[in-house]
Amino acid sequence: MLVSQSGKNADYHALQVYLIIYFLFIFFIPNLHNYFPGFNQNIMSQKITAAITAIGGYVPEDRLTNADLMKMVDTNEEWIRTRTGIEERRILKGEGKATSDLCVPAVLELCKKRGISPEEIDCLIVGTVTPDMFFPSTSNLVCDKIGAKNAWGFDLAAACSGFLFSLTTGTSLIESGRCKKVVVVGADKMSAIVDYSDRTTCIIFGDGAGAVLLEPNYEGYGILDSILKTDGSGCHYLHMKAGGSLHPSSFETVAAKQHYIYQEGQAVFKFAVKGMADVSAELLEKNHLTGEDIAWLVPHQANKRIIDATANRMGLSGDKVMININRYGNTTSGTIPLCLWDWEKKLKKGDNLVFAAFGGGFTWGATLVKWAYNG
Ligand code: UT7
Repeated sequence: MLVSQSGKNADYHALQVYLIIYFLFIFFIPNLHNYFPGFNQNIMSQKITAAITAIGGYVPEDRLTNADLMKMVDTNEEWIRTRTGIEERRILKGEGKATSDLCVPAVLELCKKRGISPEEIDCLIVGTVTPDMFFPSTSNLVCDKIGAKNAWGFDLAAACSGFLFSLTTGTSLIESGRCKKVVVVGADKMSAIVDYSDRTTCIIFGDGAGAVLLEPNYEGYGILDSILKTDGSGCHYLHMKAGGSLHPSSFETVAAKQHYIYQEGQAVFKFAVKGMADVSAELLEKNHLTGEDIAWLVPHQANKRIIDATANRMGLSGDKVMININRYGNTTSGTIPLCLWDWEKKLKKGDNLVFAAFGGGFTWGATLVKWAYNG
């Protein structure tokens, strides 16, 4: 009798213990971060972010200076420098040379720096509006040229926002766990689609490529947030009319110079100033940051005056802004990674960076990055 009474008590206690553990799991443990903030950090650190772990870049040797352009169109050195900030651009010359030839040295440099073989790349994305040809993609051609035998990839056309859009796409592949090594390239051979008799466009553009490697990070470094936008009604102001399914290339389209960039500069300028500044400010606000928290603004290099307006709006002084437009001009998808390439040595682990772009489409956006290594 005594034994059975104590047995009942033991059952009762066991039930109590089970119930306590059950309620702990249901109510307490999921809210542990409210009681112990450090616990939250531990959970967060398990989240995969996509960190930039290496940078490569390439600009062709041939320079096209403002003085050279004065011999080609009715312009002058001072007008170009004061209205755009550009002093010279690089041009890829040579028979059979195309955008993939800008990408190859950039990606190979990145692999060398990181100490990896191209065969380790899982995916390679090329942001470009000047692919070697419509298909196959420039990504396919680059993978073949560098021996990235295990990679898949594609081109992404978002004009001057091409690198940002590609970066966000690559980031998703890393964050989802689908890929371990994604290479994102921004590359354009703008000289292939520039009319060198049109002084309003030929002074701006140049050729170049930059590339970054994305890898998983478990400590919260890398691409933290992005706001990307498009507005197709902007097509009117900046486009290349012919060569697509709407106006397939013909003698007529070539005679009408529709295989070249068409830009209404002043209108694009107004949209760009507002778009790039607004989206950068929105990104800061969304992440509860101010200009003081930002180590570097990495802006698309279309016009020095657009860059200055964006920096002002973010409350950033000029020494926190990467600018190389004076040396390379506007390389479209190449501008942001080429800035990173030039500034890599100055970057420190933990720096907050904002990448910002505006371009044809219209396309625009801003990306917040916590830098993952000391340059
Ligand atoms: O990256 C993709 C997105 N693109 C952009 O963000 C580019 C945005 N636009 C711009 O950067 C500028 O609009 C340009 C650099 C393209 C042009 O500068 P602007 O200050 O907007 O010049 P404008 O078109 O208002 O022209 C002002 C004057 C005009 O002369 P008048 O009518 O005032 O006598 C132009 O004919 O400057 C003249 N002009 C030039 N003069 C010397 C235009 N181009 C040139 C030139 N050299 N190359």
